[in-house]
Amino acid sequence: MTERAPLTILAIAGSLRDGSLNKAAAAAAVANAPPGITVQLAEIGDIPLYDQDVQDAGFPASVTELGGRIEAADAVLFVTPEYNYSVPGVLKNAIDWVSRLSPQPFAGKAAGIMGVSPGNLGTARAQYHLRQIGVFLDLHFLNRPEVMIGQAGSKFEDGRLTDADTIERIQALLSALGEWSQRLDQTAEAPAGLAAAS
Ligand SMILES: Cc1cc2nc3c(=O)[nH]c(=O)nc-3n(C[C@H](O)[C@H](O)[C@H](O)COP(=O)(O)O)c2cc1C
Repeated sequence: MTERAPLTILAIAGSLRDGSLNKAAAAAAVANAPPGITVQLAEIGDIPLYDQDVQDAGFPASVTELGGRIEAADAVLFVTPEYNYSVPGVLKNAIDWVSRLSPQPFAGKAAGIMGVSPGNLGTARAQYHLRQIGVFLDLHFLNRPEVMIGQAGSKFEDGRLTDADTIERIQALLSALGEWSQRLDQTAEAPAGLAAAS
């Protein structure tokens, strides 16, 4: 029997700081990925502010590299804080740059979201804004499970996610996202199969 290659999920964190809770949650996804799934970390800290003059002169290497990694991944996982009830500028900026690549790497891609905040709502408002952005990008966001990690002060220690329930929720999200990416692949292949059968 041939063994399936592990599914690759590219995690894009929406915070740049070293002590980021969201980067720590992304690291927990890497460390606790279920069998058959590999989580990789994207880098967005080197991406300049979007400027069409810069684009016209040539896409920065940091943007084309990110686009290539998104293209190569089976799914993307946004791990983002909420800033002023929305998506942080650094993440929106990275998305805006990548959206100008052709072909546009987010199009048709499976995507998931999770986020961490010290407050109660666990980035709920930012997550729904990100889903709205995904409509134009033709991202296919997984609906459930929603992973909104609030009250982070009690769930992280020394820069690491230590809360067992939260780690389980992240694993459930990764499993569901892996299955979702496979379902989308099958759907993309279906028309040819149907045509051959008729
Ligand atoms: C500019 C700014 C805006 C923020 N707005 C919100 C907000 O709307 N909702 C919220 O829950 N937390 C907000 N916060 C607090 C962040 O949730 C908190 O700083 C969080 O730790 C940032 O994520 P990180 O640890 O991954 O860097 C804001 C923080 C900053 C710096």
